[in-house]
Amino acid sequence: MTDLAKTYVVRFTLQQRIEHFVTMAVFALLCLTGLPQKFYQATWAHSLIELFGGIDRTRWIHRFCGVVLAVSTVVHFANASLTMLSKKIGFTMVPDRRDFEDAVLQLKFYLGMTDKHPHYDRYDYKQKFEYWGLVFGNVIMVVTGFILFFPVQFASLVPGQIIPAAKVAHSNEGLMAFFVITIWHIFNAHLNPDVFPFDGSMFTGKISRERMVHEHPLELARMEGRPAEDHGGHLPPNAPGREVG
Ligand code: HEM
Repeated sequence: MTDLAKTYVVRFTLQQRIEHFVTMAVFALLCLTGLPQKFYQATWAHSLIELFGGIDRTRWIHRFCGVVLAVSTVVHFANASLTMLSKKIGFTMVPDRRDFEDAVLQLKFYLGMTDKHPHYDRYDYKQKFEYWGLVFGNVIMVVTGFILFFPVQFASLVPGQIIPAAKVAHSNEGLMAFFVITIWHIFNAHLNPDVFPFDGSMFTGKISRERMVHEHPLELARMEGRPAEDHGGHLPPNAPGREVG
């Protein structure tokens, strides 16, 4: 093991780790209690519903977790907006032009068309894409989930056809979210060759300096107060001045 691999830097605060843990636990429970309702004819669905103590309990656990997810989404946004407004962190999750350029450069690199590799800041384009996918997915699940939770009240406010439409959207978006997280997120975060078999940074809050050099060199340079070096990749004009979030 090199010295770089043994030195760690803090990547995630305790609050960010708690938020991730709550989202992970609640999302898992929502899938475990929602999907058996969608595939109620399957044998595995019956076993899962029995495990949760019957259909009534399964539905109430699902609704309770839905409310926790809704509250945690609101808290996340309120907190992120306030911290950004107070200038403690920058807009590190907001996609910009450079993410599109990075994605093209990365693709060219994979296709052997260039030996230049993009230099990433705090979050790369895939992480930003996944984050915003989760945000929009959450909003759809929360809104349609509450319509299914209070169908009579909603039907007195909006046309009645909205209720079955919400059910279709909730049901299919729920299945898609399950696949996106189990296939895409788990591959990127744990199974991809750079971090296999497990990336614990979201649980410990720490990441090796070696990985920062490879995966987030622009952020590392800024953290250490030195200008970002050009390793042949593409550097943004304002790289050293960007805020760390
Ligand atoms: C990403 C998170 C979520 C997933 C994966 C998910 C998944 C599902 C699935 C697959 C169904 C069955 C739909 C069908 O019968 O075809 C369902 C039903 C339902 N979901 Fe969700 N859901 C999520 C979030 C929420 C939220 C935030 C709420 C809000 C309270 C909610 C409330 C409900 C309700 C009320 C039902 C109808 C069944 C019942 O009355 O208990 N869900 N969900």
